[in-house]
Amino acid sequence: MRNALPNFNGLLTRDELIALACHDDVESRLIVQKSGKWQIKHSPLTEQDFTRLTKKQWTVLVQDVNHFLPSARDLLLKFRFIPHARLDDLMVSFAPQGGGIGPHFDSYDVFLLQGIGSRRWQISAQQDDQFIEDAPLRILKNFQPEQEWILQSGDMLYLPPHYAHNGIAEEDCMTYSIGFRAPSHQELISQLLVYMQDHIEAEGRYVDPDLQLQRHPSKISIAMRAKANSILKGIKWNQSDIENFLGIYLSEPKPHVFFEPPQKPLALSNFLNRARKQGIALNLKTRMLSGNGKFFINGEIFTASNTTYRILEKLADQHTLILDRDIGTATEDLLYQWYTSGYLEIKS
Ligand code: SIN
Ligand code: CO
Repeated sequence: MRNALPNFNGLLTRDELIALACHDDVESRLIVQKSGKWQIKHSPLTEQDFTRLTKKQWTVLVQDVNHFLPSARDLLLKFRFIPHARLDDLMVSFAPQGGGIGPHFDSYDVFLLQGIGSRRWQISAQQDDQFIEDAPLRILKNFQPEQEWILQSGDMLYLPPHYAHNGIAEEDCMTYSIGFRAPSHQELISQLLVYMQDHIEAEGRYVDPDLQLQRHPSKISIAMRAKANSILKGIKWNQSDIENFLGIYLSEPKPHVFFEPPQKPLALSNFLNRARKQGIALNLKTRMLSGNGKFFINGEIFTASNTTYRILEKLADQHTLILDRDIGTATEDLLYQWYTSGYLEIKS
């Protein structure tokens, strides 16, 4: 998409990105290509990692930039034509001329938006997915580019999951990857089973009053197998289990994400006054989804009355809200609870 975001020049500078990459609670990677060999260093990165770099090809990639920059959240909100439930994160990379991370596949839908500089993108629908052995990254061994373009600032390339691609910086270059989760069936099924483990309530206990003497006591008998089979058929889930599972699974923060309650929380009345004047905003790390009278916020479920639901749906959709006077105490209490958990803040 040429000129998908006219005048887009990026949200942060190279140095700001490098400073972010060195933060303790940031997931980042530094990938260096030296004499045809790939090296990768995972966060925590340090400033020395960057001063030590010679002018060889390298790339720094920072995940979840939307957790740190309000402008990154605004950028992601431009992608609201895809439901929030599918959103993964905004990853930002910087590479000097010649830098890149090699040809590879990703397992999500991604919009690759060009910030400063330009990048040559080569893509291929190839099925050959053999990787270079012994490389610390999954780099395709036999990449056969079929099409290529040079993207300038504001241009954007969309790639579906598992579409081979290779991006090479033509000059100092920053790329903004807006990624959308596309979990494998294996992942969805195993995560549902994790959810069910905590939510299933089965009655009864294994008994075998009809037990027969076995010639081989070590044998798991057919009778035992059949009995276990009929017990296990009791694992069932309904629409509400699926909805709750999806809500928890898709709003669950990543393992390195933590919420900090406000250091000096405002009293309820003060919070409400300011929320009416200035408005509230979800904390940048908060994931909030809605569905059927419920909200899923950072892996927790909250059931809401019709009135509360209608009011807070706006917050879930837009991430900010100016409170009206008459939203009712139930809604006020819920918002205050989220405020004291660090899930939302007064807008600055
Ligand atoms: C990059 O930004 O350097 C790479 C992004 C990607 O290939 O997914
Ligand atoms: Co990629």
